[in-house]
Amino acid sequence: MRILVTGGAGFIGSHLIDRLMNQGNEVVCLDNFYTGHKRNILKWMDNPYFELIRHDITEPIRLEVDQIYHLACPASPIHYQYNPVKTIKTNVMGTLNMLGLAKRIKARFLLASTSEVYGDPEVHPQVEEYRGNVNPIGIRSCYDEGKRVAETLAFDYHRQNDVEIRVARIFNTYGPRMLENDGRVVSNFVVQALQGNSLTVYGDGSQTRSFCYVSDLVEGLMRLMNGDYIGPINLGNPGEYTILQLAEAVRDMVNPSLALKYEPLPQDDPRRRQPDITRAKTHLGGWEPTVQLSEGLKLTVDDFSARMGDRVAAVPSASVV
Ligand SMILES: NC(=O)c1ccc[n+]([C@@H]2O[C@H](COP(=O)([O-])OP(=O)(O)OC[C@H]3O[C@@H](n4cnc5c(N)ncnc54)[C@H](O)[C@@H]3O)[C@@H](O)[C@H]2O)c1
Repeated sequence: MRILVTGGAGFIGSHLIDRLMNQGNEVVCLDNFYTGHKRNILKWMDNPYFELIRHDITEPIRLEVDQIYHLACPASPIHYQYNPVKTIKTNVMGTLNMLGLAKRIKARFLLASTSEVYGDPEVHPQVEEYRGNVNPIGIRSCYDEGKRVAETLAFDYHRQNDVEIRVARIFNTYGPRMLENDGRVVSNFVVQALQGNSLTVYGDGSQTRSFCYVSDLVEGLMRLMNGDYIGPINLGNPGEYTILQLAEAVRDMVNPSLALKYEPLPQDDPRRRQPDITRAKTHLGGWEPTVQLSEGLKLTVDDFSARMGDRVAAVPSASVV
């Protein structure tokens, strides 16, 4: 199959491309390298079945493919808030362009949506029927509302033009190749710990998150794309941890002598986030995450440690959580 991955040079996109290439597909990676990097796809550059196109999805493009995994969009608050108007354009105009392409060439289209569509949820854990509690004018709105519009566009193209869509609501995902400077909680803690600094906990650390290892997420995305269920469908790890527990886990793995320091919570930071994955289990052949947090954190710490090289001391292999 010929498969387009938008945002393929990014964190999740590049892991997805690894799986698709290893399965023997032909892959077109489309990316403007805003938060993605060539090093993530370097190993495929000389492969004749791999094609890289530097392109901004806010501009239309003509291609011939069978499937489109639409992931292009900065995912971390630091990056999507850096240029919020651009984030909205990527979500709205970019998704319009990709849906228009899917319609023209009759390709199946999978949207990488997000748990952020639930905003600061009043329902816990979050089920797909929950319509969310999103601030339309806050600093996260360019992303949250952008993704909500992207979902609307996908369903309208499906109803109006019979485009075959799949919509995944992705919860916090972590793993190797996350950017060191993306401000997300896992990368923050890992970088701070590897640099021998105190780990910054926002608020009192009692807010919760779920953490899905990237290989589990990619498996869910591929099952969704190749199955019959349209979605929206939550993909994430239902194991719920407080931010404090995560900080302690990373600290104990890297350097138990490090301190934790506390700072005020940022605006619109959700208090709790945990997916209900009943739908995914039911419709994606029993899909559920298999990688334990201790195992995934170890792989992540090792990757960051290798990338950060001499700047950090060797990481002990003790595992916690
Ligand atoms: N990582 C998570 O925890 C998470 C959670 C929920 C949803 N998602 C969604 O999954 C997708 C991938 O996330 P990620 O964590 O890999 O992020 P990422 O920032 O690593 O990857 C996004 C990729 O999209 C590219 N991109 C951004 N704007 C573009 C544009 N206008 N044109 C072309 N390319 C563009 C970037 O250069 C990057 O390679 C995103 O759509 C994100 O919203 C991720």
